[in-house]
Amino acid sequence: MTVGIPIRRLWPEPSTQPLDDAALTALYGRAAEPRLRVNFVASLDGAVTVDGYSAGLSGEPDKRVFGLLRMVCDALVVAAGTFRHEGYRAVRLNERRRAWRREHGLTEYPTLVVVSGSLDLDPTQAAFADAPTRPIVLTHADADPPPGLTDVADLLRCGTDRVDLAAGLAELHRRGLTQLLCEGGPHLFGALTAADLVDELCLTVSPLLAGPGPGRIAAGETVPPRQLPLRHVLAADDGVLMLRHARL
Ligand SMILES: NC(=O)c1ccc[n+]([C@@H]2O[C@H](COP(=O)([O-])OP(=O)(O)OC[C@H]3O[C@@H](n4cnc5c(N)ncnc54)[C@H](OP(=O)(O)O)[C@@H]3O)[C@@H](O)[C@H]2O)c1
Repeated sequence: MTVGIPIRRLWPEPSTQPLDDAALTALYGRAAEPRLRVNFVASLDGAVTVDGYSAGLSGEPDKRVFGLLRMVCDALVVAAGTFRHEGYRAVRLNERRRAWRREHGLTEYPTLVVVSGSLDLDPTQAAFADAPTRPIVLTHADADPPPGLTDVADLLRCGTDRVDLAAGLAELHRRGLTQLLCEGGPHLFGALTAADLVDELCLTVSPLLAGPGPGRIAAGETVPPRQLPLRHVLAADDGVLMLRHARL
């Protein structure tokens, strides 16, 4: 079913017709191997936010692909900074997307994984309190949970005094959560890049100039540049580009 603003593939094979949800799902399908996919939206001049939030960069085509990426993943990984700032709500999928998951032998909803070193998290935040699947908080051995957090989430402790991301992802894989979708933010993406854990980047480029001020999609310590080959280019009729870069 095609809804909203048409999206077409420009590369490698141009599509003459707009892509329906089935075609888009095939382009962003699940992998046979464990995979960490990262999804971001940025402005043409590289800004990760407008007025402090990602919403000003994201239109209907981006939201459509954003939802499809959530549909096909086992777990949705988000850094505590973004989780707090963007006020993450419970992960919800419409009936059509839940049916797709059931048909593919998946749980109805992906598991939310919040990455936090401080555990400065509010157990009453809707993403925890209303979660359809019990969330996981990826943290380290020294972190003290606030009252109530362990009532609404499982703690996964990897690392002694800081989160060991490689060990954390390996433990998620061991629990059967192999298709991981990371929705940011920039510091987590920077740390994942530094640890060479990023298999794929899905980047929506919004056709606007945000001007100086906002940060980029990656933040944190400097790391050596890493190649990530282009796999496809989609364009939506509102001028948005959707790039998929992946190791495989
Ligand atoms: N355009 C987009 O697609 C997009 C996507 C996501 C976010 N954003 C924007 O990005 C901004 C938020 O960014 P942010 O600077 O707060 O970065 P962030 O990466 O969202 O969050 C950083 C926090 O995540 C936890 N964390 C990240 N990496 C960690 C690691 N290696 N080990 C342990 N904990 C780690 C820590 O939480 P604790 O403090 O709890 O220890 C850290 O303070 C917001 O403005 C949001 O709107 C934009």
